[in-house]
Amino acid sequence: PHRPTPLVAGNWKMNMLSADGRALAAAVAAGAGSIAAELAVCPPAPLLPVVGDALTGSTVALGAQDCHAEASGAHTGDVAAVLLADLGCRYAIVGHSERRQDHDEGDEQVAAKAAAAAAAGLVAIVCVGETLDQYKAGEGVAVVERQIAGSIPAGASPDRLVIAYEPVWAIGSGLVPTNDDIRAVHGAIRARLAERFGDDAHGIRILYGGSVKPGNATEILAIENVDGALVGGASLKAADFLAIGAAA
Ligand code: G3P
Repeated sequence: PHRPTPLVAGNWKMNMLSADGRALAAAVAAGAGSIAAELAVCPPAPLLPVVGDALTGSTVALGAQDCHAEASGAHTGDVAAVLLADLGCRYAIVGHSERRQDHDEGDEQVAAKAAAAAAAGLVAIVCVGETLDQYKAGEGVAVVERQIAGSIPAGASPDRLVIAYEPVWAIGSGLVPTNDDIRAVHGAIRARLAERFGDDAHGIRILYGGSVKPGNATEILAIENVDGALVGGASLKAADFLAIGAAA
């Protein structure tokens, strides 16, 4: 089947102030022209207007790191997906393991956020991944399959959906699963998506995330069913992020 255009998304997490965020986005925008993969940057929410401004006229997409499940209302400190769309976002990450851990987000809430993102016209990047204990117990595929079943909303449209497989133990650790591990999990995700979406499942990009660097990107991105990367630490340096983009 036809391989979708790869997506390399940078998750800046809780880093960058306005001046360095603008400069980083401008540097990514300046280097993106020669890269065939789609690039996206996901800054902290208050930086979205600044970064969006720096990306104007480039091919680099803007994304958010989270959204609320409801479109408006009494939710102090939260950000609605419709506002993200209004600010020029194309993507919203939902269910990142740091949110699942720090904010006790479960699959049901993640699915509601993905639905809100899609309803607002965004593409949800739904994150899944096992912990180190689960990996050591050989439960990785089962955990991810459970999260996939629970975190994709009922009635989801395949063109509003990206999946990111991020083993929790590989995030920020410099540790990366073996190629066989990645192949097995991504293959299982594709199979579950095919049960749900039929042939359309082949158009859904499945990203790998967790210690992706310029030095390992080519190898990881060549694995079957790896359709791009969700990059944390290495997305904070334009040259590294662009090198990963060029590898996709
Ligand atoms: O969302 C991306 C992230 O969790 C991976 O982080 O720093 O291991 O690339 P890092």
